[in-house]
Amino acid sequence: MTEAVIRVAGLGKSYETAAGLFPALKGVDLAIYPGEYIAIMGPSGSGKSTFMNLLGCLDTPSSGDYFLAGENVARMETDALARLRNRTLGFVFQGFNLLPRMSLQDNVALPLVYAGVDKHTRRERARELLDKVGLGKYAESLPNRISGGQQQRVAIARALVNKPRLILADEPTGNLDSHTSEEIMRLFGELNAEGITIVLVTHEADIAAHCKRQVRFRDGQLVSDLLTEAAV
Ligand SMILES: Nc1ncnc2c1ncn2[C@@H]1O[C@H](COP(=O)(O)OP(=O)(O)OP(=O)(O)O)[C@@H](O)[C@H]1O
Ligand SMILES: [Mg+2]
Repeated sequence: MTEAVIRVAGLGKSYETAAGLFPALKGVDLAIYPGEYIAIMGPSGSGKSTFMNLLGCLDTPSSGDYFLAGENVARMETDALARLRNRTLGFVFQGFNLLPRMSLQDNVALPLVYAGVDKHTRRERARELLDKVGLGKYAESLPNRISGGQQQRVAIARALVNKPRLILADEPTGNLDSHTSEEIMRLFGELNAEGITIVLVTHEADIAAHCKRQVRFRDGQLVSDLLTEAAV
């Protein structure tokens, strides 16, 4: 059987608050296989971002296990984990999170700086990805010169720059109008057709309909897990 890209078992996260420990995630079990395209849904406060931040190794669980590409994340040293994360996954945020004083090309190339790639290769690779998302001609522009939808394309190019197997996106269309959202979903669909595993959070049924599987959270628990019509 194929190895899961992501496997979590009994995954929990509690936040320390003034009122005491708050359990935002209460023992989630889920396996995600190569090539899947999954929507994470559920009401505000149900734990979606908490879950995504754990999957993206942006935060650490309070309990349970997380295997990323077969490796037990909890047992890894910080450096090894950073390397695994860099080569395995790219993260896309609702607010794009581009650096405002850097050109689009430099924004896309930034993860390669951390990966120790030389300058020439960084430029070439960033340019290639900007071309892929249709923005090559804006390579030298600053982020504020392009639209929100274009900025999200740049953020997706940045997420792809280390050639990850997996893209994690937390409400990637949350700040975009419906037309622009559809364009972003078309791009995700193309990337998934190329074999990249995609996990995205959305509140919207028409966005989730693009995905092949829909997982729903409520009160920090996974309450449903269904294949969609897009899966057949
Ligand atoms: N850093 C934190 N400290 C304390 N509580 C937190 C923290 N982050 C999240 N929470 C709480 O944990 C719960 C889950 O939050 P989370 O952000 O995961 O929800 P969500 O499903 O992503 O919601 P939304 O749809 O609004 O983005 C919420 O009750 C939230 O208030
Ligand atoms: Mg959220």
